[in-house]
Amino acid sequence: MGETKKREQWGSKLGFILAASGSAIGLGNIWKFPYITGQNGGSAFIIIYLIAIAIVGFPVMLSEFLIGRKTQKDAVNSFKALSPEKPWFFTGYMGVAAAFMILSFYGVVAGWTMTYTWEAVSGNLLSLDASQFPDHFGALIGDPVKPILWQVAFMVLTVAIVLGGVKKGIERWSKILMPLLLILLLIVMFRSITLEGASAGIDFLLKPDFSALTPTSFLVALGHAFFSLSLGMGTMITYGSYLSKDEKLPSAAISVSVADTVIALIAGFAIFPAVFALGMEAGAGPGLLFMTLPGVFQQLPLGTFFATIFFGLVVIAALTSAISILEVPVAFFTEKYNWTRTKATIILGFVITLVGMAASLSMGPWGGFTIAGKNIFDQLDWVSANILLPLGGLFILLFVGFGMKLKEAFEAADFSLDSKFGKTWMFTLRFVAPGFVLLVFLNALGVTGALTAAIIWSITLVFLYLLGVIGD
Ligand code: PFF
Repeated sequence: MGETKKREQWGSKLGFILAASGSAIGLGNIWKFPYITGQNGGSAFIIIYLIAIAIVGFPVMLSEFLIGRKTQKDAVNSFKALSPEKPWFFTGYMGVAAAFMILSFYGVVAGWTMTYTWEAVSGNLLSLDASQFPDHFGALIGDPVKPILWQVAFMVLTVAIVLGGVKKGIERWSKILMPLLLILLLIVMFRSITLEGASAGIDFLLKPDFSALTPTSFLVALGHAFFSLSLGMGTMITYGSYLSKDEKLPSAAISVSVADTVIALIAGFAIFPAVFALGMEAGAGPGLLFMTLPGVFQQLPLGTFFATIFFGLVVIAALTSAISILEVPVAFFTEKYNWTRTKATIILGFVITLVGMAASLSMGPWGGFTIAGKNIFDQLDWVSANILLPLGGLFILLFVGFGMKLKEAFEAADFSLDSKFGKTWMFTLRFVAPGFVLLVFLNALGVTGALTAAIIWSITLVFLYLLGVIGD
C-alpha cells in the first residue's frame, strides 16, 4: 500500500476494439434486436435504427472514450478529474448503480440461454413437441431453482474472467470469444438464408414497409441504440480508461459502432429467413428466441447441431457484455476504496448475483411481490435501461458538449480544431443528440400527461442549472 498501484492498459488496439465490441455485442443484438425488428415491421425499423446509431450512438461513444482515455480513471473519478468543482460525477454514480441493476437481470437471461444450450446438446430441447415450446419456456423461468443454478454458473464465469484483469482476463477472452461468435453466427446465417422459402424473410429485412412504423418505433430504435452500444453508464469510459494516448479515438468508435450494428444485422439474417421459411411468427416478441426458434431448429436437418451452436453463441455474446458491466463497479471500487481487484470482483459479483436471484424468483414463487406494479426482474430492467441509461447518456453528451472546453474536448477526441468531422460531431453532440435522448427518456417514462412532462422538464432545468450548464 502507500504507493499507487500501476494502472493496467490494453495490450493492443485490436484487443481494445474486440473488448469494446464484445461489450456492445450481447443479448441486445441477438435476442432483443431481432424481436423488436419483428414487432416493428422489419426493414423500415432497421433504417431508423441505423440513423439512431449514427446520430446518437456514435457521438456518445466517442464522448465516453475520450473521458476515460483522457483521465485514465473510472466512471466516477473521471468526471471528478475533469470537473472538480461541479457535480458532474453524479453521472458516474448513476452508472455504477445501473451496472448493478443491469447485470443482475442480464445474468438471469444469460442463464436461460445456458439452459437452452445444455438442453440442445443433450437432445432434450428438440425432442419436445413444437406446441410445447411456450410452456417449456414458461416452466423454466417460473422454476424456483433451475434458472438460479444457471444464473450462478454464468456469474461465476463472468467473475472468473474479470478476476484475470484487463489484459489477461477481459482482453484475452474477448480475443478468443469474439471471432468464435462471428464464425458461429455466420454458420447459422448461411443455413438460414439457404433454406427454401427464405426469400420472404430476406425481403422482410430489405424491403422497407414504412406503413408498419408507429411513432413509438422511432423511440424504441433510439432507446435500443443506447443499450446495444453499452452507452450511458460509463462502460465505455471505463474501457477507454485502459487505452493509451497514442490510439485514435474516432476510428475506434466507428469500428465498435459498425461491428455492433453488423452483428445485429447478421443476427437478423440468421433468424428471419428461417422463421419465414418455416412459417413461424416474426412478431412473437421477447419469446422469439426461446419459444419460436427451437421450433425452427426442430425442422432443420442437423437441427440439434445448429441449435447448440446458436444458443452457445448467445451465451458467448452475453458473457463478453457481462464482464464489461462488472468492470464498471470493479474499477470504481478498486480506485475509490483501494480494494484489490480480487476483493472487488468477488464481493461485487456476489452481491449482483444475489440481486439477480431475487429477480429470477420474482418470475416464479415471488411473483406476487411487485414494486410499482412490476416484479423485481421487470423493474430492474425498466429503471436501468429506460431511466438510468438515457439520463446518463444525456449528461455525458452535455458534459462533453458544454461542460468541457471546446478545445479540450477536440484534443481529447483526437480531432484538430478545424476538422470538419470534429465540428459535425460537436454540433450533433450539442444540439441534435440531446433532444433525441430526451425524447426517448420521456417516452420511456410513459409521459403522456402534460403535467408529468412539465415536472420532468423542470427537474432537468434545475439539474442543468446546478451543473452550471445554463444560468450565470
Ligand atoms: N450492449 C449489451 C447488449 O447489447 O447486450 C448490453 C449492455 C452492456 C448494456 C454494457 C449496457 C452496458 F453498459
